[in-house]
Amino acid sequence: MTTLNARMAELKVIPVIAIKDADKAVKLAQVLSENGLPCAEVTFRTEAAAQAIRNMRDAFPEMLIGAGTVLNAEQVDQAIDAGVDFIVSPGFNPTTVKYCQQREMPIIPGVNNPSMVEQAMELGLNTLKFFPAEPSGGVNMLKAMTAVYPVSFMPTGGVSPANVKDYLAVKSVFACGGTWMVPGNLIDEERWDELAVLVKEVANVVA
Ligand code: 3PG
Repeated sequence: MTTLNARMAELKVIPVIAIKDADKAVKLAQVLSENGLPCAEVTFRTEAAAQAIRNMRDAFPEMLIGAGTVLNAEQVDQAIDAGVDFIVSPGFNPTTVKYCQQREMPIIPGVNNPSMVEQAMELGLNTLKFFPAEPSGGVNMLKAMTAVYPVSFMPTGGVSPANVKDYLAVKSVFACGGTWMVPGNLIDEERWDELAVLVKEVANVVA
């Protein structure tokens, strides 16, 4: 297991974040770090993503920080410049994967069927995101693919407090991703105490 996989496996849950204001990133990182989830997948779904990652990295050098929803090489460069530990993409794009490999940056691309798993394996990958997990068949689909392929999965998309333990119980699952523990409105409205309660609850559920 790589160091990255081991760190994710220890955390069990990776908060997927869409942050609109990079000035809120340090406080958000503090809430995550102090309540048992010192990690973040900051999605490039907002303009603020790269700066938010940079701010988190400067304030919390030890935090595990990834870039999510990375769709092309330009965003890979932006994420690496900002200081990420890993990159996640919603789908399997061989061009983006190869570019990450060229830059020696771990990438966890999204797959949701056997053909995509095999294409990812052909590029030497064995750590994949299963996305969107619930609409793609959820735990049953994951179990079927686990029986066949020697890869590890991070299910994301529809994972919730109600099903996270079922996903984590699947042998190939090393961690789950999700937005449920970091609702955008709590970040936007700076409701840090409520966010802290939510993060702590999640950390306890998967502990
Ligand atoms: C992602 O970007 O990985 C997903 O949007 C997260 O899915 P969720 O909102 O259902 O957790």
